[in-house]
Amino acid sequence: MEKRFYITTPIYYVNDKPHIGHAYTTLACDTISRYKRMKGYDVKFLTGTDEHGQKIQTAAESKGESPQKFVDRIHVAFRDLCATLGASNDDFIRTTEQRHIRVVQEIFSRLMSNDDIYKGKYSGYYCVPCETYVPENAMGENHTCPDCGRPLIIMEEESYFFRASKYVPQLIEHYEKHLRGVMPKIRYNEIMSFLKSGVRDQSVSRTSIKWGIPVPGDEKHVIYVWFDALVNYISALGGLDTDEFAKWWPNVRHMVGKDIIRFHCVTWPLVLLALGVNLPQEIFAHGWWTVDGEKMSKTRGNVVDPSEMVKEYGLDPFRYFLMREVPFGNDGDFSERALVSRINSDLANDLGNLLNRTLQMIRSYRGGIVPKSDEPSELSQMSAEILERVDRSMNDYAFDEALKAIWEFIGRANKFIDENMPWKLAKDESQSAKLDFVLMNLYEALRLSAMLIAPVMPETSRRIWTQLGISEDPVKAQYDSFKWGNCAGNVIGKSEVLFPRIDIKEWEKSKEEKKLQETSSQETTSATEAQSAPAIEHEEEITIDAFKAVEMRVAQITKCEEIPRSKKLYKLEVDLGYEKRTVCSGIKAFFTPEELTGKRVILVTNLKPAKLCGIESNGMILAASVKKDGVSEQLTLVVPESDIPLGSRVS
Ligand code: MSP
Repeated sequence: MEKRFYITTPIYYVNDKPHIGHAYTTLACDTISRYKRMKGYDVKFLTGTDEHGQKIQTAAESKGESPQKFVDRIHVAFRDLCATLGASNDDFIRTTEQRHIRVVQEIFSRLMSNDDIYKGKYSGYYCVPCETYVPENAMGENHTCPDCGRPLIIMEEESYFFRASKYVPQLIEHYEKHLRGVMPKIRYNEIMSFLKSGVRDQSVSRTSIKWGIPVPGDEKHVIYVWFDALVNYISALGGLDTDEFAKWWPNVRHMVGKDIIRFHCVTWPLVLLALGVNLPQEIFAHGWWTVDGEKMSKTRGNVVDPSEMVKEYGLDPFRYFLMREVPFGNDGDFSERALVSRINSDLANDLGNLLNRTLQMIRSYRGGIVPKSDEPSELSQMSAEILERVDRSMNDYAFDEALKAIWEFIGRANKFIDENMPWKLAKDESQSAKLDFVLMNLYEALRLSAMLIAPVMPETSRRIWTQLGISEDPVKAQYDSFKWGNCAGNVIGKSEVLFPRIDIKEWEKSKEEKKLQETSSQETTSATEAQSAPAIEHEEEITIDAFKAVEMRVAQITKCEEIPRSKKLYKLEVDLGYEKRTVCSGIKAFFTPEELTGKRVILVTNLKPAKLCGIESNGMILAASVKKDGVSEQLTLVVPESDIPLGSRVS
């Protein structure tokens, strides 16, 4: 059978700019793709963008754009990221493309006609940002989403359901036989225990949103964004009944982050079982990056832009760092300092020096021509072991282990120089054969190391082979046809420094200066603003998701009482239609109880309850005010301008 390898990244949401999390999955897939090609596999590497659903609709609305225009604009950054990262993907799929929409509808129809999708009613707790229903036993405290921590809403809608439960025993049986079905082991165990705890039929359509693929024959519904998105792995092959599908599907593998394993290791395989096609060979879930020890987030302002890192430190060092720093599968911490330290120690010192020293000696002692020597050495013996270790590690997606093995070999080669002291051998005519032996082995160690690093650092690999005087492209080399000791007579090329050392003191200084510049430019901007609009104080920018976490509803004040001990507060009873609440509000100076009773207002309903003057207040009434020295001089209530039902959500 022909060796084939079909690998996919998750398709990325286009609601924001790409960050290192996205770069990480893409680079891992790129590394394994390049490796497999060098092992003689026919490889298909797919990536793309997830462009439907509530998240995107909301993001587009916040920019005042149509969703289509918005995704057309934003998806470009993800396409560009592939180029910036040097990704060797063979295809880039967008879920708004016709080729995708057609296949999603075909698959949905096929499942409907087999009665694996049926119409029903769904009611449950729903997380809007995550676009997912949350079972009651999985909810966080106070009805919050276990993934993002935000408040859940109760949602009821007519929905199409996928008969997931029917296929669960079959999936459990499959995973029991295929231990690599979910990797690493910790995720395998997690998925198995989830499956064994029972899986309900899953809602796969929505009536509440518009931006999605219509359910065939029932356009009131759009297909749930996750169902839509997962199908990309098949739509990129043209659908189920194509030669491309027959060619690639038996060898499909998915790479995902640990946060989306249930969709990939439960929902998706259940759909595949219902479709009667094979399950993925492997699904690997990698860990998450924090940045300088903190969760990466826009509000913290610590989102790392991969393009900036590439611009500042170079593409290959960035690729090397991400693949080397953390055992693949574990969480890790990104810091520029750690990146700089890897550049200096592993790249400039270990690899760069080995190349430099070796080429310089071949030039000085042998006129730039690689000498012949057939005697086996520790390095030639070690080479076979390293090739095997790299192979084993790569097959387990242990990129860090593979690199560690290569660097052990590089370290051994550096030591080989120190032990043999070629500069001494060169002074003694009788040691000429030994010098040939030493130089030839060093040359071979470099030729092999450069080939081995090609999946992670393709450009560096090329630069090394060019300096070694090899005209072939190492990226196209085949690991299995590597033969130690074939290079006598090669004429080495021009030397150049692979990775200039970064002076830590200078680097620290420039980072500090940059920080200072950033703060002073912020100060200048706010000073200019202050001159033209002295009274306005702006809050920090927040995301639309942060805003949406504030639940506001229309309410009516049904009772207003004085609080004897308080000059500012009234005790109000408000009716939300579905419940009554007590709220303390500091508006006494502006209204009489008669003016307030019966008024319809806007209430923030998900504020933590607070005790004010001994009374528990459960919400906050919205008002606009003019303040002087922090004290309201003028105040007006924010009221709905027409007779909308009590409890209506404000957004
Ligand atoms: N659109 C869905 C995937 C659908 S696949 C059928 C999605 N998109 S995403 O853009 O939010 O995330 C894509 C990938 O980026 C996920 O694998 C996720 O784990 C990864 N990362 C996002 N932030 C990350 C880190 N901080 N660290 C590492 N990877 C992380 O989910």
